[in-house]
Amino acid sequence: MSAAGSAASARAAAAIELPGPDVPDPMAVPARRWAILGTGWIAARFVESLQQHTAQRVVAVGSRSLRRAEEFAREHGIERAFGSYEELVAADVDVVYVATGHLDHLAHATLAIEAGRAVLVEKPMTPRLDDTRSLVALARARGVFAMEAVWTLALPRYSVVRRVLESGMLGDIVEAYANLGERLVDHRRAMDPAQGGGAMNDIGSYALMFANEAIRGLEVLAAHGERHRAGDGGEHGAVGAFHALLGDGSGRIATVSASMLADTPTTAFIAGTEATLRLDGPFYQPGPVVVRFHAGASAGRELRWDGEALGHTQLFWEALEVARCLDAGLTESPLRPLDRTLETVALMERARELMGDPLPR
Ligand SMILES: NC(=O)c1ccc[n+]([C@@H]2O[C@H](COP(=O)([O-])OP(=O)(O)OC[C@H]3O[C@@H](n4cnc5c(N)ncnc54)[C@H](OP(=O)(O)O)[C@@H]3O)[C@@H](O)[C@H]2O)c1
Repeated sequence: MSAAGSAASARAAAAIELPGPDVPDPMAVPARRWAILGTGWIAARFVESLQQHTAQRVVAVGSRSLRRAEEFAREHGIERAFGSYEELVAADVDVVYVATGHLDHLAHATLAIEAGRAVLVEKPMTPRLDDTRSLVALARARGVFAMEAVWTLALPRYSVVRRVLESGMLGDIVEAYANLGERLVDHRRAMDPAQGGGAMNDIGSYALMFANEAIRGLEVLAAHGERHRAGDGGEHGAVGAFHALLGDGSGRIATVSASMLADTPTTAFIAGTEATLRLDGPFYQPGPVVVRFHAGASAGRELRWDGEALGHTQLFWEALEVARCLDAGLTESPLRPLDRTLETVALMERARELMGDPLPR
């Protein structure tokens, strides 16, 4: 290459930077009145996050037990406590956060939507495709806002990921990968097959969601799961780990894996013809974005966006997205449209079919 040519390549390389996140100022998003349905682990993290970082108001909590609702309200400084979910959704609130177990999302989100409340429903929106279709149809028929609480997609980190993908700097996408593993064998709900426990609903859903965001039109080609062998020879344990291979029929592939039997690096990547985007673990939480070029003028160059690994303290971003959508009069979030939720649930269902992991009825 000539001297002029190398100088031009150096300038081109220097000009490439990772775009920053396009997110609102958390305190500037107008407050909505939130009701919390269910008082478990994620409900507490969600409330703490909203209260610490935003102007959103958590005004009511509902539990199956009035005593438990009052205890949660006291702990978190919430004005109103209800001893049933029915009473909660009838209260004067703008949006209900459904934070019960996977198999209860359908009933509890239905309750809220039928009361005319906007809903943010914990993931998976429901674990079954038919149920998710019913819920989506109900929300659309009533003109009520509904969103699956995939907090990952509302994080500044994923705003950067989207902007990198939109910029085309990776070239043509060729392959995606996501792994998520946390040893959770003693977690009573998450490992109980009767409650939809196992690696798919709690964590596998993130890995499949990621692959489906990276490559559109994926189908599950193969999936294999292993049951947790807890003293019964493994026959009745939840499928605690699985691997799945996906393809789009046009030469693009993805590999996802999830485990509640082992701590694994929990990283993800999206590889293109020009560069590869890498998310260090845990890929579905706040953290950095790295893009490494292997072709063109920038070959060998690595660009970073340095997001801090702040864990579940950052759940509030999904609430801001809901408040922003309600303000704009939207009934779905462009970050997690309901069709995208249906796609992920379809992949989950197909993978479970292939690995022989039916849900309880
Ligand atoms: N975004 C994330 O990072 C994240 C993390 C963890 C979990 N999640 C999701 O959040 C959901 C809840 O998970 P969690 O870990 O918070 O669960 P959890 O601690 O077990 O809480 C679930 C809540 O559901 C209510 N509930 C209603 N019917 C119930 C029943 N028959 N048995 C037990 N509880 C019942 C209970 O509230 P009351 O007793 O007050 O009625 C309970 O506190 C799951 O779908 C999970 O996928 C998301």
